[in-house]
Amino acid sequence: MSENMEELLEDFIYWQARVNGRLQDAEIHPAMSLLDLLRDELRLTGTHMGCMTGHCGACTVLIDGKVAKSCITPAASVQGKAVTTLEGLASDGEPHPVQQAFAQESGFQCGYCAPGMVLTTAELLAKTTDPSDEEIQQALAGNLCRCTGYQSILRAVRKAAARLAD
Ligand code: FES
Ligand code: FES
Repeated sequence: MSENMEELLEDFIYWQARVNGRLQDAEIHPAMSLLDLLRDELRLTGTHMGCMTGHCGACTVLIDGKVAKSCITPAASVQGKAVTTLEGLASDGEPHPVQQAFAQESGFQCGYCAPGMVLTTAELLAKTTDPSDEEIQQALAGNLCRCTGYQSILRAVRKAAARLAD
């Protein structure tokens, strides 16, 4: 092995975290983003690549239950934590109530914004099942949708809230 290659490999660190309930590990470069790790190493492509600057929300995941933009989150910083992606929200093969509500209300057209809209809604409704329209809009403010005009998204959030409140 060449000296350059050895130096390059020395830069890599051992990474381990629970992703969608499953313990995962990898050898990663310290500068790798969580988004690249999820998509390229773990093949969880439900997390979308958008602006790459933390503005659009397409890359949203939950880290220990809190929303985070994975494009600007170093993978190394989630060492030992619990990461939930859009793929991990369902349980026992049943879509999460938020996913069901978005499907019933035709909340999406292209679906590119789905990770941010769905996971942010799940986080919001874990705190309150009776959010005001203002609270919903505030929570979703960091997520851009180019297709829907947001009305179907608002309907879906209200429907999910009502179902979870029951
Ligand atoms: S891709 Fe991460 S916020 Fe846009
Ligand atoms: S449904 Fe296309 S970006 Fe939201």
